[in-house]
Amino acid sequence: MNPLDYLKENEAKSLEQLKDLLRIPSVSAQTAHKKDMESCAQWVADYLKKLDFKAEILDTGGHPVVFGEYHKSDDLPTILIYGHYDVQPADPLELWKTAPFDPIEENGYLIARGATDDKGQFFAHLKGAESYLKTAGSLPLNIKFMIEGEEEVQSENLPLFIEKNKDKLAADVVLVSDGSQFGIDLPAINYGLRGIAFVEVKVTGPDRDLHSGSYGGVIANPVNVLAKLIGQLHDDEGRIAIDGFYDNVYTSSDWEQNQLANLPFDADEYLATTGSPKYRGEKGFTPLEHTWIRPTLDCNGITGGYQGEGAKTIIPSWASTKITMRLVPDMRPDEICDKIEAYLKKICPDYVTLKVIKHGGGNPVQVPTDGPWLKAAAKAVKTAFGKDPFFTKEGGSIPVVETFSAVLGLDTLLIGFGQHDDNAHSPNERFLIKDFHRACQTSAALFDELSKVKV
Ligand code: BES
Ligand code: MN
Ligand code: MN
Repeated sequence: MNPLDYLKENEAKSLEQLKDLLRIPSVSAQTAHKKDMESCAQWVADYLKKLDFKAEILDTGGHPVVFGEYHKSDDLPTILIYGHYDVQPADPLELWKTAPFDPIEENGYLIARGATDDKGQFFAHLKGAESYLKTAGSLPLNIKFMIEGEEEVQSENLPLFIEKNKDKLAADVVLVSDGSQFGIDLPAINYGLRGIAFVEVKVTGPDRDLHSGSYGGVIANPVNVLAKLIGQLHDDEGRIAIDGFYDNVYTSSDWEQNQLANLPFDADEYLATTGSPKYRGEKGFTPLEHTWIRPTLDCNGITGGYQGEGAKTIIPSWASTKITMRLVPDMRPDEICDKIEAYLKKICPDYVTLKVIKHGGGNPVQVPTDGPWLKAAAKAVKTAFGKDPFFTKEGGSIPVVETFSAVLGLDTLLIGFGQHDDNAHSPNERFLIKDFHRACQTSAALFDELSKVKV
């Protein structure tokens, strides 16, 4: 039997196995899930071992990395497959149709936290490897799996882990499936990801909450002040108002502009998937440009004062917000964190105190749009989907991709199998079941194509 037939014959079983993986609530952000993180790592390692991989669970100082290796021959290419077994918190639970860690099938979708981000996607590559091992008895090339547990919390320990394990991780190319297609039945290979920068901002006024009758009008209200500061981060045309914010923003090439113009993008349909009444992006750019090639600034949350039942008339002591900014070439997170801090210090009135905590982030990345690895990937996508892939970018960030290039000197193939409306990081996260199966097939076809690349 050939590997693709094996996958077709075993579709039902593969889906049940993915459900098992999704039942483990591996939420990296919450300490209450530490045990689940360990069982999830164990599940992945056990699966690899059953496939004849040498598998280990490696300490990183945080949640462990699962490393698996199958060596076939020194003369064949070695690919390093990266994925993450951690998932986002499931809250708000009341917005889920079903329990987030009890996967169900509905209208062709598998619904569960982690279905598309990233369990369904990395598991497809385990199935791709399995299809060879169960039919041909061995792989057509060398594979290393590195499945981490801290992607959703900024991969804090990963750069050092990679630095320390350079030899173990040595490969010819990296493969990452943790993103999206261009649309349904519109497969894509991604050639770029935005970077990210994080800051926390806290404004403090009085040293405790005060009665707003006794002190209102004479002592500044930190919630009011923070709201105004946030309001001054953009101008009326949607541009970011921070001094020098755009200094290092690259100019999109003619090739890229042409690429963008030729994509079958339906702006109304895209808007409809969000439930939002209208677009609101930086003036002078299209929605695709807003998400792929322009930087952004967003408050992820805002806290301060009293929001409980009934009334509590106070001047709150403090207010805070967490902000992320998406970066495009050639912006750098540290530079951007410094610039937002300087700007906030400049505009913040002296009747409150301001604290900015800078958390850095990850660099934007662009990967090659040509070459033997990419050609192999395009062929594999065509085999599985019956269509040539589009070349797309992603608005999201996978900071480790830049580490692969900087520390290991490797290019990364980014083949996303999700859809933009899979509800990643949202309630009712889902993965199209047919996308899962085609991801498994792409994986098998890709191993075959990559094995023919001369190294
Ligand atoms: N899979 C996403 C990255 C992604 C998002 C790719 C959207 C393509 C489209 C990843 O799991 C993620 O959520 N990354 C974080 C990075 C952060 C925690 C450093 C992100 O983009 O917010
Ligand atoms: Mn992900
Ligand atoms: Mn994610």
